[in-house]
Amino acid sequence: MRHFACSSFLFVFLALISNLTLAQTLNNPTFHLDIAPIIYNNCTECHRVGELGPMPLTTYDEVAANGYYIEYVTQSGYMPPWTPDHNYTTLNGERFLTEEEKQTIVDWVGADMPEGDPSDNPGMPDFDMGLQLGSPDLVLTMSEAYLHGGDGLEQYQVFIIPTGLTETVEVLAVEIVPSNNAIAHHGLIGYTSNPSSINAALALDEADPAAGYESFGDYGVPVEDRLFGGWVPGSLPLMFPQTIGKIMEPGSQLLLQMHYGPSYQDELDQTTVNIYFADLPVEREVETYTMTPSDLSVPFYIPANEVVSFHGTLEVETDMSVISTIPHSHLVGKSWLVYATSPDNQDTIPMISIPNWDFHWQGIFTYPSLLKIPGGYTIHAIAEYDNTSSNTFNPNNPPQPMWFGDFTTDEMFVLFFQFIEYLPGDEDISIISEPNVGCLGDVVPNGSIDISDILMILSQYGCLSNCVSDVTGDGAVTISDVLVVLSEFGEFCP
Ligand code: HEC
Repeated sequence: MRHFACSSFLFVFLALISNLTLAQTLNNPTFHLDIAPIIYNNCTECHRVGELGPMPLTTYDEVAANGYYIEYVTQSGYMPPWTPDHNYTTLNGERFLTEEEKQTIVDWVGADMPEGDPSDNPGMPDFDMGLQLGSPDLVLTMSEAYLHGGDGLEQYQVFIIPTGLTETVEVLAVEIVPSNNAIAHHGLIGYTSNPSSINAALALDEADPAAGYESFGDYGVPVEDRLFGGWVPGSLPLMFPQTIGKIMEPGSQLLLQMHYGPSYQDELDQTTVNIYFADLPVEREVETYTMTPSDLSVPFYIPANEVVSFHGTLEVETDMSVISTIPHSHLVGKSWLVYATSPDNQDTIPMISIPNWDFHWQGIFTYPSLLKIPGGYTIHAIAEYDNTSSNTFNPNNPPQPMWFGDFTTDEMFVLFFQFIEYLPGDEDISIISEPNVGCLGDVVPNGSIDISDILMILSQYGCLSNCVSDVTGDGAVTISDVLVVLSEFGEFCP
């Protein structure tokens, strides 16, 4: 462990050079030199005690005991879990192994999993980051803990959380912090201040003897913002760029939908939602557009024993800057492809491709920087559904006809976009919501603080006159400011 505070350019370059030598994998890989870095950076965030992964992958013994299994799940692409095709678009928080990394695992398992020299082990990243964004301005917790039974079943439960606000506030980031990461699979927040939705949700809560109420697909009631916040294991909360954000009104309520994975012992969870208010006034409010079956030219009906696809379109009226694209279908869903085309069809903007949809690994997929879709373009969303018995997730055996709905045995065609109206320069505004692998300041997330992070910070905040973030007071925002900020807030970096 080295502290970035005592570093200099020399250190940064040394770190870069040592990364390069590590990357040149030998033909006789050992656990400590070659395998540990792959596992620690891609698997251990979930595969350690108290987290969702079914077995810990932290030591030589644990990894070697699962060696063949690890080879299998990495070859098949099942692990690390990441459903979008990273060759189609670049998204934040991508998890995938390179071909070299996969081959290293194959070679290592093939060589009977040699341990190597423990002094080569880079050590695990510091996963225990606690609050990611400093201290929140508003902390809201589920009023009571939810008991998730040890019956080996998963559960989708919605909890009503009053915001208690007496005045309107502007929000920069929303963070969901489960209290029990061994069962929390993902969380989504719907926002409503509509009394009839709130009353309907309260009635559902009343009718369900457990804390909260069950709702598989959505929140069970209409909400104004279906994506006020979201969390999947290992993700940082989405923090909007300055002057872009959301508004919360007095009397509003959050509907927190938690997906709990199967457990074989009773578990409790009492999730907290941390809200961070905007420092600068929000000039552009994040809007959510939802594409639904009303954007289809045919009825949304999936006959039994058939594979069908639906093609939704949306005409973009004025230039927009897309923050995130979130496809949503249920268990019979098979794939998603989303892109935008120009009126003359000469230009195509890829948005997301999910070749093998997996309901259990939904995500909130954000772009590295705001994605401009010009007015006049058409957004296309093509979703495929496999309602045959060869789809092992099919909830009906034998397959049954399916329509749109909230239950496990219903299907959905829903695509969310979070966006703002486009302003020139938006393409250069980055959205960083990366899983942090132990380095605060690792803004170009590659697991180390290096020159790329400094360049990124300077490209966003660098400035030569009338500078707002000039901490050194020399009139400009340059490398010296970055170093001062890092010496104050920099973290250990493995
Ligand atoms: C985001 C969390 C997460 C990450 C990252 C992750 N896993 Fe998993 N892993 C899980 C969960 C949860 C399961 C249980 C099955 C499921 O829910 O899909 C699982 C299942 C597995 C299984 C199969 C166990 C079984 O009984 O079926 C293996 C093997 C595995 N993971 C290895 C890995 C390896 C190797 C990596 C890194 C290359 C990795 N995982 C990364 C969460 C994760």
